[in-house]
Amino acid sequence: MLSEVGKDMETGNKVIDEAIQGSATTLDLKEVGNRKVYIESYGCAMNFSDSEIVASILSKEGFNTTNNLEEADVVFVNTCSIREKAEQTVRQRLRSFQKAKKAKPEMVIGVLGCMAERLKSKFLEEERLVDIVVGPDAYRDLPNLVKQVDEGKKAVNVILSKEETYADISPVRLLSNGVSAFISITRGCDNMCTFCVVPFTRGRERSRNPETILNEARELFGQGYREVTLLGQNVDSYLWYGKEGLKKDYETLSEEEKKQSMNFAQLMEQVAQISPKLRVRFSTSHPKDITDEFLDTMAKYDNICKYIHLPFQSGNTRMLEKMNRGYTREWYMGRIDKIKEVMPDCAISADIIAGFCSETEEEHQDTLSLMEYVKYDFSYMFKYSERPNTQAEKKYKDDVSEADKSRRLAEIVALQRDHSYEANKAYVGRTYEVLVEKVSKKSDQELAGRTSQNTVVVFPKENYKVGDYVQVKVDNCTGGTLLGKAKESQESR
Ligand code: SAH
Ligand code: SF4
Ligand code: F3S
Repeated sequence: MLSEVGKDMETGNKVIDEAIQGSATTLDLKEVGNRKVYIESYGCAMNFSDSEIVASILSKEGFNTTNNLEEADVVFVNTCSIREKAEQTVRQRLRSFQKAKKAKPEMVIGVLGCMAERLKSKFLEEERLVDIVVGPDAYRDLPNLVKQVDEGKKAVNVILSKEETYADISPVRLLSNGVSAFISITRGCDNMCTFCVVPFTRGRERSRNPETILNEARELFGQGYREVTLLGQNVDSYLWYGKEGLKKDYETLSEEEKKQSMNFAQLMEQVAQISPKLRVRFSTSHPKDITDEFLDTMAKYDNICKYIHLPFQSGNTRMLEKMNRGYTREWYMGRIDKIKEVMPDCAISADIIAGFCSETEEEHQDTLSLMEYVKYDFSYMFKYSERPNTQAEKKYKDDVSEADKSRRLAEIVALQRDHSYEANKAYVGRTYEVLVEKVSKKSDQELAGRTSQNTVVVFPKENYKVGDYVQVKVDNCTGGTLLGKAKESQESR
């Protein structure tokens, strides 16, 4: 899903919104009570993963989920603050609930996630319709907060935690195709990129107990899942040191902690060893923290997908410094060289920001030339959007004109389109192992799945089914999709 979104620059959130609206699944849970909750999610994969945790917490209190807003007793919107546009989308959506609330005045409406954390109780004043405001670390308190609203109060919990990772909660898989699932491995972010709200909305970085991650992956595999995506704002800085707590660097650990420690490369290796038939993906990697040890582990296991999302934001070192990204243009290029050396077939994608504070025309050209150097398979591309209370908002002027931002973004998008097309063309004529995820949207006689490189492939169904690994010879491409046919002699893993 993320890859489909990525092909649409600024519309990313919109595509996700469409994907989720009206498709929250009704769960087959034991009815302890009989209240129904409707959850809608916006923003990044972490939010979608959190909604599954919320569904799990509420199911224990007798809530069933429903995909029908009208029949819901409780409506939650899991929100995103990353750009102003993301917040506007949520506000519009909240207003559209007015009709449903009028028809059913006892309906409880709650706001979860990053916007809840950013605006806190101000949300209750700004959007009168809202009864509950809950930040990303306070979901265990949800049953209690709903009770408070039942008693006629408004309820807010936006306390951020130093330990919470929801490690013991097994998520209720909403919207699942039964083949791929998200597993959160870290929460929060300590990087403090100057443009970004995430450190404020999600709090400090914490790594989850690896045993619980491995158990979750094993369970999923046992239930028939064939792909897990390990999630975090910066997965490369994953480091378990024996207990839940704030992020530490390896060098600062005690001898005892070092003995119990596990880094991202080691965790990845253990997940990959669960079964060669379980594909492993991960997101997001940070250029300053992606290690050679990790890249070597990736190369060693066929079932670790050969795809890295490695956002660079800007191709200019002065901009990168101003963004507090912790690397230079040259460092980033060095990481790309290493990836290509160790895994020549690895697909790479990026996030790019156009028109950050004081970006000159030459600096923008550096972004385009870095794109030429890497030739990304695809990118998520954005205009800089100033966010309240970030370092950039406090220290720098948002002084690139709207017209320049739009033009620079259009240039970036046009170049990416060429590169994506070139990348797709290079797949034609070759055979790839495809994990089948669903029946194609266009025809029920066709199946759709992805290559290890994360490119969508559509091919005639024949006798194959969702969850199969199929060797597919690619013979054409349209837009972001490859078209092919299953090879007759199957060499299934
Ligand atoms: N943790 C990930 C990205 C999280 S946010 C990482 O560091 O790579 C996803 C993307 O949104 C960022 O990579 C960035 O490109 C974009 N983004 C974040 N804040 C933004 C802002 N204020 N304006 C425009 N784009 C922004
Ligand atoms: Fe934001 Fe930077 Fe953290 Fe990514 S690494 S979430 S861009 S602060
Ligand atoms: Fe948005 Fe929060 Fe994710 S701001 S991008 S939902 S971490």
